[in-house]
Amino acid sequence: MRESHHAESFVSPVWKRYTSIVAERAEGAYIYSADGTRYLDFTCGIAVTNTGHCHPRVVRAIQEQAAKLLHGQVNIVYHRPLLELVEELRTIVPPPIDCFFFSNSGAEAVEGAVKLARQATGRPNIIVFQGSFHGRTALAMALTTSKTIYRAGYQPLPAGIFVAPYPYAYRYGWDAEQTLAFCLRELEVLLKTQTAPAETAAILVEPVLGEGGYVVPPPGFLRELRRLCDKHAILLIADEIQCGFGRTGKWFAVEHSGVVPDIMVMAKGLASGLPLSCVAARRELMERWTPGSHGGTYGGNAVACAAAVATVRVIREEGLLENAQRQGTLLLHRLRELQREFPLLGDVRGLGLMVGAEFTTPDGEPDPVTARQVIERCLERQLLLLTCGTYDNVVRWMPPLIVTAEQIETAAEIFRQSLSLTFNP
Ligand SMILES: Cc1ncc(COP(=O)(O)O)c(C=O)c1O
Repeated sequence: MRESHHAESFVSPVWKRYTSIVAERAEGAYIYSADGTRYLDFTCGIAVTNTGHCHPRVVRAIQEQAAKLLHGQVNIVYHRPLLELVEELRTIVPPPIDCFFFSNSGAEAVEGAVKLARQATGRPNIIVFQGSFHGRTALAMALTTSKTIYRAGYQPLPAGIFVAPYPYAYRYGWDAEQTLAFCLRELEVLLKTQTAPAETAAILVEPVLGEGGYVVPPPGFLRELRRLCDKHAILLIADEIQCGFGRTGKWFAVEHSGVVPDIMVMAKGLASGLPLSCVAARRELMERWTPGSHGGTYGGNAVACAAAVATVRVIREEGLLENAQRQGTLLLHRLRELQREFPLLGDVRGLGLMVGAEFTTPDGEPDPVTARQVIERCLERQLLLLTCGTYDNVVRWMPPLIVTAEQIETAAEIFRQSLSLTFNP
């Protein structure tokens, strides 16, 4: 076999790379590199391995299913893992959502949700929010506004997408109430000036902003979106791809507000690492989606569905939602202590185990340089963290839902050392 450093040059550089670790195996909250180094993984493969790496029950379900049926194409047959998965999902999505379509990636499912909304309403336009990330396919790029890098060189993108402000209070420098009032006013203006309600199929929103900066909106935000959607018969689509599947301490982040969306999109944590995504809606809505007008060869793959069934059961039976709440509270507490010690850690925010730490320069500007230095110092101490945000100045914390208090304490201590080295060299 060729040396790995040689093989790396044949991997497309379009994949931006945070580390040069060659991962050999992984277990729970740890990744082991080929040279035997153990890393505490607080990236979870970007919020995917919520049950921890290679959870034994998920691995067993995959192995058993692989030996029985790898691919039972959904246009041709039903298979048991698919039928078990829809039964499991029915127990965790907010009623009256009760009908499910599967594809492979998050972007594919977002596109599916938008296609469903357009056919179900007969309207063309979609409203998204500033800072949103919904994927990298053509339509998903048009729905994405977190950074220009996701669009530059690919424009023009599909039309019919309109952007409203997201209530990111720290960015605006206002309190939650003022920020919310501003954003709702601007949304009303958008409906008056750019996309009339009668032309608007859906409002697509991340209940907690992911790639755009791990921003938790004020509690009234989703309720007001729901009210506006009901008033104008616009569909509300919740993109739960990053914030769903237990990440915020509830199955889905919308549950914190009590709001029920018309359509929910999930992926990432759904199958603990196998590619699977889902569009969920009421059956009555799904029945307005012309059969055959959407689909795909691999969607609802038998092995991926078996992994998802095991994932739901593990999260439920091992109390991982409760653990996410408990450990998330501890993590926020520790980071807020560090914020008092290091004031350039401008904002610490989060819900459950979706926590952001935003760096700001002394004159109040976004500070990506410090964020980068800090996560590099964490990496040197075998803690994996990522950044996010339009300016890449937010360190995002997304440990697995199985994380222990001891692992949180270890990570917080490594972060403290890294902050100390960065600010007091
Ligand atoms: C909120 C959200 N939506 C959509 C996507 C796109 O998912 P995928 O990368 O699987 O296409 C992501 C991925 O990071 C995401 O965080």
